[in-house]
Amino acid sequence: MDHFLYREGILHAEDVPLTEIARAVGTPVYVYSVATLTRHYRVFQEALAGMDHLICYAMKANSNQAVLRVMANLGAGMDVVSGGEYIRARAAGVPGERIVFSGVGKTRQEMRDALRHGIRQFNVESEPELRALSEVAVSLGTRAPIAIRVNPDVDARTHAKIATGKSENKFGIPIARAREVYAEAAALPGIEVVGIDVHIGSQLTDLAPFKAAFAKVADLTGTLRAEGHDIRRLDLGGGLGIPYRRDNEAPPLPFDYGGVIRETLGHLGCEIEIEPGRLIVGNAGILLASVIWLKHGEGRDFLVLDAAMNDLVRPAMYEAFHEIVPVAEAAPGIERHPVDIVGPVCETGDTFARERPMPPLGEGDLVAFRSAGAYGAVMASEYNSRPLVPEVLVSGDHFAVVRARPSFDEMLNRDTIPDWID
Ligand code: LLP
Repeated sequence: MDHFLYREGILHAEDVPLTEIARAVGTPVYVYSVATLTRHYRVFQEALAGMDHLICYAMKANSNQAVLRVMANLGAGMDVVSGGEYIRARAAGVPGERIVFSGVGKTRQEMRDALRHGIRQFNVESEPELRALSEVAVSLGTRAPIAIRVNPDVDARTHAKIATGKSENKFGIPIARAREVYAEAAALPGIEVVGIDVHIGSQLTDLAPFKAAFAKVADLTGTLRAEGHDIRRLDLGGGLGIPYRRDNEAPPLPFDYGGVIRETLGHLGCEIEIEPGRLIVGNAGILLASVIWLKHGEGRDFLVLDAAMNDLVRPAMYEAFHEIVPVAEAAPGIERHPVDIVGPVCETGDTFARERPMPPLGEGDLVAFRSAGAYGAVMASEYNSRPLVPEVLVSGDHFAVVRARPSFDEMLNRDTIPDWID
């Protein structure tokens, strides 16, 4: 459930009509709802109630400082995957002991900075990383707490570009080699083993792959404990999917996901960490755009918007589906016509939807892309010299711009022309 509902015929973000935000900030613009973010965090809290746990929000999904602050105030930890994300998490008020550091290519500098300023654990993805981390920790006179990310060779049954748990993917250490790598870890002077990490993919719409992966982690916990490793934390990654099509998609509920965790791992007495991103923030955000005009083509009509693939790349990149709805609710029974919904960027790939039935819309009308809070603004670019899309946060009846649209001057000033070009 989210807090983007029609009231008196106008789509609202909580108590704020989207028309008001469009008037004040212009379009395109992302709009996030604090009430929805809070609700999604609490749903996970309830799903894991009774188990020692920490929800480490995967901030790659949406790392706006204001969103992070909302999460931090709720008590969330963070999953970070770069030095930049680490700095953002700290700046938003997340203490180091609630930050886990994932990713296949952490640099020594990133390791050093995290060790100096506080880190809960590194999720280590390879032997070279393990050895480098040990060296860095020793050079700082400390030991790095680690979990090793194991690759369980489980098919997450999601889009190939976001599946991570098969042996052919670049992620983690093959689970069959885990014993050997844990033995090496235990012998390294700068490493302290604290647990096991797994993440099999994103937008999973079935619990079976989670169950298969977690069962393998349970087995491995027993094996590693028998070999003397103190496995006290299990980081289960993120990945629970959301309904992008509300009419015919019903991905598993966090409560049932919690049930799978309890059933497969509950008896081990470990602290559970999860790293949800999309489920926390996906349906807590929309992308608000305006119609530039309706263009009649040969045998099809194009609804040209002022938002483009540079603002929301998911349809172009993953053939992702987003519901696109008019902000002024269509009258009941109004006829819908199939249109291709496109942006102004000079690529055919800049297409959000093909033959999407839409009510009549024309110049200046507002539309909202639903489920755009995750992997939306964070993946935006300034391609075609389109200013980076701004962001707005709503709580109740008030809203604030939490990232302003850059001016063209700001954009130009980022470049310099060397004086040897005359
Ligand atoms: N933990 C790790 C180690 C991850 O790699 C990811 C996502 C997550 C947690 C969070 O997964 P979530 O709960 O959000 O599914 N840009 C793509 C999604 C990429 C996901 C990358 N990793 C998209 O727009 O669908």
